[in-house]
Amino acid sequence: MSTVAPQDPAAARGIARRTQSEIYRAGISGTKPAVPIDSDALEAAARRALSAEAFAYIAGGAGAERTVAANRAAFGRRQVWPRPLRDVSVRDLSIEFLGRRRPTPFLLAPLGVMEMAHDDADLAVARAAASLGVPYTLSNQASFPMEEVASAAPSGARLFQLYWSASDELNASLLRRAEASGCEAIVVTLDTHLLGWRTRDLDLAYLPFTRGMGIAQYTSDPVFQQLVRERVRASATSTDAAPDAPAVRITPKAIAAGVKIARKGSALTGAGLRESLRSPLPRAAVETFLDVFSTPALTWDHLAKAREWTGLPIILKGIVHADDAARAIDEGVDGVWVSNHGGRQIDQSVPTLDALPGVVERVQGRIPVVFDSGIRGGADAFIALALGATAAAIGRPYAYGLGIAGEVGVREVVRNMLAELDITLGLSGHTAIADVGLDALREV
Ligand SMILES: Cc1cc2nc3c(=O)[nH]c(=O)nc-3n(C[C@H](O)[C@H](O)[C@H](O)COP(=O)(O)O)c2cc1C
Repeated sequence: MSTVAPQDPAAARGIARRTQSEIYRAGISGTKPAVPIDSDALEAAARRALSAEAFAYIAGGAGAERTVAANRAAFGRRQVWPRPLRDVSVRDLSIEFLGRRRPTPFLLAPLGVMEMAHDDADLAVARAAASLGVPYTLSNQASFPMEEVASAAPSGARLFQLYWSASDELNASLLRRAEASGCEAIVVTLDTHLLGWRTRDLDLAYLPFTRGMGIAQYTSDPVFQQLVRERVRASATSTDAAPDAPAVRITPKAIAAGVKIARKGSALTGAGLRESLRSPLPRAAVETFLDVFSTPALTWDHLAKAREWTGLPIILKGIVHADDAARAIDEGVDGVWVSNHGGRQIDQSVPTLDALPGVVERVQGRIPVVFDSGIRGGADAFIALALGATAAAIGRPYAYGLGIAGEVGVREVVRNMLAELDITLGLSGHTAIADVGLDALREV
């Protein structure tokens, strides 16, 4: 199935021609692509394929979703300025990132709870990414433990994304596991120290974590398991009722949610569904997670601890101000990731494409600058790279591909972006990503 050998910088060459030819040839026999190429059609197909809750969780943003729209609108203020009559017959999409040559300038952004899109979730994403030589940033909120993801795609490059939890022992343990399971870097996400005001999820009263989804990194972690056991022990000896937790009304939906939590919690009980249903551990795991998830008390001073926990490079995700990028360099951080979480955290916030040039200018090439939020096609990636991003991260589109066609869907979405980037590179008169700069753009 794979037309591109992973990790080989030459492998992505000619991807545009191969992809077009594959699609048009299949069309002669009446076969259309498994996932739509057009990004609006892709989103619409995902909406049809997914449950209402899953689509809301993936597509939704904070508040009135003005940041989601602003991220896209910012691309509309830049245009590609083509220069013909240059020989562009051989094009090189490779970049240097974290000390290695990568065949493409793409990364996959961390997306939690991908089991909402497909049962194979992160395993499918990891395989698809590896087949194209695209590094995959595995989420702290993934649906499979990082060790299982590593064995599903052993040849794939992986980064691990951490939400800095309230338990330092847990943070240290997660980073140890990331290093042991072959991740190349740690991405610390800074913009989710409080869960955003996600209108669509609130209207559906649906948060996947409260149903035991997206907490596999935690339930498979020895430190977290210990926290859960301690919680169960403490509540068995305590006579205090939780003061601010409203009781859950017993309805068929509540029972179904309880069964789901028990099923997910079998990683903790080490037993089947029947025993897990009787065990207090699965419910305690959800409660423990909700307690420790991402501390709002995190400051620059805490970051130094990560250096004690891991020897891997550290990238800060959620940097949108040049001063913070400069501080990151002063603190010895190895990379910054310009992101506003796809507009899922603050409504009417700064679009990342507008924040990118200031960050790039301040960083002056000293560390890599990853960019995300709003990339929907290869031309978008071209614009971000022209503005100085080292790498462009794909978010929602690959989740849509996953929901529509599993691993194949993710692969097609990423391959299509790669093909469009290759074409844009050539048509604009460039032969290498490294040659694309501000002179390739016009501001409007
Ligand atoms: C469904 C979903 C789940 C996400 N989960 C995480 C996560 O676990 N960790 C994280 O750092 N960012 C997470 N993000 C943010 C993405 O990494 C990325 O910043 C964002 O999707 C980029 O915006 P875009 O998808 O509009 O391009 C999530 C985004 C979505 C849509």
